[in-house]
Amino acid sequence: MKKITIIGTGYVGLVSGTGISDFGHNVICSDIAEEKIEMLNSGIIPIYEPGLKDVVERNVQAGRLSFSSDVAESIQSADVIFIAVGTPESENGSADLSAVFSVAKTIAENLNTYKVICTKSTVPVGTGDKIINIIKTVAGNNAEFDYVSNPEFLREGAAVNDFLRPDRVVIGATSDKAFDILKDVYRPLYINETPMVHTNIATAEMIKYASNAFLALKISYINEVANICEAVGADVQTVARAMGSDGRISPKFLHAGPGFGGSCFPKDTKALVHLANEVGEDIRTIQAAVEANQSQKSRMVDKFIRLLNNSVDGKIVSLLGLSFKPNTDDVRDSSAIEMIEGLLSLGAHVRAYDPIANSNMKKRFPLVEYVDNWQSAVKDSSGVVILTEWNEFRGLDLQELATLVKEKIVLDTRNILSMNELYRLEFTFDNVGRKKSDR
Ligand code: UDX
Repeated sequence: MKKITIIGTGYVGLVSGTGISDFGHNVICSDIAEEKIEMLNSGIIPIYEPGLKDVVERNVQAGRLSFSSDVAESIQSADVIFIAVGTPESENGSADLSAVFSVAKTIAENLNTYKVICTKSTVPVGTGDKIINIIKTVAGNNAEFDYVSNPEFLREGAAVNDFLRPDRVVIGATSDKAFDILKDVYRPLYINETPMVHTNIATAEMIKYASNAFLALKISYINEVANICEAVGADVQTVARAMGSDGRISPKFLHAGPGFGGSCFPKDTKALVHLANEVGEDIRTIQAAVEANQSQKSRMVDKFIRLLNNSVDGKIVSLLGLSFKPNTDDVRDSSAIEMIEGLLSLGAHVRAYDPIANSNMKKRFPLVEYVDNWQSAVKDSSGVVILTEWNEFRGLDLQELATLVKEKIVLDTRNILSMNELYRLEFTFDNVGRKKSDR
């Protein structure tokens, strides 16, 4: 059993710390934000993530997981320290590393025994060397530590499972001692034969960007294919399914939709383009994926306005789903943002319902009317747009919808509604890369 400290109790830190305590280690999740630590100590989870509360409670009760705002002490008592603070996008598209560097300095100031210092936050290639330099500058060249890059691959909404049952664990470590210690941290996975990729630091950092950017590229690709399908009368769902049955392609991340959002893909794709430029290289494929994503978001707004006969002013329009994907309250870079901006600028009365993301979107768009069920959202509406594929909307009662709205107009940006039903109920509808209604 190891003594582990995770610094940063955001999304990545809290899920990782909880997961590592579930592997049997003694974990302190530490953060300078005292209010977050107070919440956690009183049993409140500051983020929405299905299943997380149960695993936190289980490990707190077992005495393996605790929370502390005393970062210095948490560092001193640990064998392994994970840096899991935020790396937001800065003005020029690069990752803002000020929090990571500040934590590195604090670790160096409290380096009392040999420790493994491990970065989980997504950081540009080369950051590991900078962290090592900071630590050596502050703690001296003889400071006893090893540095490891151990990127996370957690999807919001499925993060607990992704942590406890990953496809692989990437450990970028130059010392075998540090690799063995990390292998021990992930012991239950190692025993289960989860692949452990032992590599150097730069390779580990690159794996994270290359993976995320590739998934984003896949999504932009299928979105552009969907747009061509619309023009030639093909069905993108069938195209994607048949493509995906080729083992070399795989069916995952081939769902056409309103463009990717969230805290990772938009930021990581831009950071990779920035990194490529910095080292004098191009990554034109990802640059194109970023541009295609932006135009996919605008395309959804144009589609909806066209469905409404280009007349939006004064009409009630209804948005179902605001989060960038289901099972999260995160609205960062959600395609709902472009939709709201477009509709408000044309004078629409925008009414919205999301099972859990209303309050986050309200902070950004207070002028939208937020309601707490889909029926209230669509009442007397002149047009409905589905933006997030919550299960609740997959099973939408279209008969009931038809009786509630003023005009039977639907844009399904997630391709989840039955087109046959929409035809039968005489809706005017559109979607992404499928057949739309004739009217
Ligand atoms: C992603 C990565 O999957 C994860 O490994 C990484 O560590 C963090 O970034 P996340 O952003 O939580 O996770 O969500 P993800 O499920 O990957 O979806 C990202 C976006 O792509 C969402 O907006 C989603 O709606 C969209 N998407 C996903 C599609 O449009 N089509 C798809 O087929 C899959």
